[in-house]
Amino acid sequence: MFDENPFTFGNLALDEAFIDREAELEALLGDLRSGQDVLLVAPRRYGKSSLALRAVRAALEEDILVASCDLMRTPTKQRFAAALAKTIHDDLTSSVDQARDRAAGLFRGLRIRPTIELDPDDGDLSFSFRASRAGADLDATIERLLGLPGRIAAERNRRVAIVFDEFQEVVGLDPKLPNLMRSVFQGQPHVAHVYLGSKRHAMQSIFNDRNEPFWRNARQMQLGRLPEDALAEHIRDRFRATERDADDEAVWRILAITDGHPYATQELAFFAWGHVPLGHAAHESDVEAGLIDVLNAEHNNLSRLWDGCTRNERVVLLALRGGPLSLFSEEVRERTGLPAATFVQRAVKALVRDDTVEQLPDKRYQLAEPFLAEWLDRDRSTRMEH
Ligand SMILES: Nc1ncnc2c1ncn2[C@@H]1O[C@H](COP(=O)(O)OP(=O)(O)O)[C@@H](O)[C@H]1O
Ligand SMILES: [Mg+2]
Repeated sequence: MFDENPFTFGNLALDEAFIDREAELEALLGDLRSGQDVLLVAPRRYGKSSLALRAVRAALEEDILVASCDLMRTPTKQRFAAALAKTIHDDLTSSVDQARDRAAGLFRGLRIRPTIELDPDDGDLSFSFRASRAGADLDATIERLLGLPGRIAAERNRRVAIVFDEFQEVVGLDPKLPNLMRSVFQGQPHVAHVYLGSKRHAMQSIFNDRNEPFWRNARQMQLGRLPEDALAEHIRDRFRATERDADDEAVWRILAITDGHPYATQELAFFAWGHVPLGHAAHESDVEAGLIDVLNAEHNNLSRLWDGCTRNERVVLLALRGGPLSLFSEEVRERTGLPAATFVQRAVKALVRDDTVEQLPDKRYQLAEPFLAEWLDRDRSTRMEH
């Protein structure tokens, strides 16, 4: 039991794996209670889905009905419609009635009726819309499904919320879908719509559309990195809970490498833990060994990222390897061999758009992709050839 690694990355951070974010959680829960729309944009792996799930669970305790739909999992409009039907059925209607009758009644008014299948083992229903019936009928069906949370809230006099994860994907489903959603959602002011998105640029172009901003009244929410002291305490706690310990140097080394990045911190702690036998304490050397494991695990990701960069982008990344820089200062350009400002500008714009690089409040730029600096450092000989 003590030999189960207490750190997790990749899955949602649940229960004791979830740390901090108390103010954000309280604010989001408040929005769910009051039907306030929310827009939460943060880079991937910052903990958006984990935070939303925690808020949703708390909301359920207060009898708020919450539907949710992850658009990363619905690559077609048929699948999007099916996912909506399922969450509306499972999460917004009561389980008193027989599931199949309830579903039939719920979806009676749809232009295209879903095919409903019952899993005989657990009684779970699945919904699908036939692929051949695309076009106007499918749009009308989606419109009607999107309207159901508002109707359910009114008919049942319940507070209702709906969470869309990876919302930027909506444009890929159909560029007209945001318009359709806006028009439906304007008619359900008491339903809280929560939009989570990980591509800042794509989200901004949906929400700040010059002609028709997606939703004027959405509260914009930020999610930063996790505070060092909370992370340090968490790391020590998890080591101690598994009959180990972590000395100060080890803890601070982890935080120095990950800079409070939620996913990266869990990942590095996970691999460092693997080097510490039962009854021992982690030292800095265990973190270094864990870092090698991380770089191996992340090698495919990072080399794909690197291969996808232009020459100028690579020069910028190499320049930023040592820490934050004012990329447009003459002195920095001479020292690091950066190209002319217009080229740097274009490269930086693309890198910021992909969350590979970020700008600090003091206007300097730094690498945002976790472990990229360490990866570039380790394999310098091959990377400098470019
Ligand atoms: N509040 C948190 N406390 C601890 N770890 C977290 C927290 N939020 C995120 N993480 C870590 O980051 C990973 C990614 O979280 P996730 O919610 O999937 O992010 P996102 O939805 O922004 O991509 C989790 O698996 C976990 O390791
Ligand atoms: Mg997510």
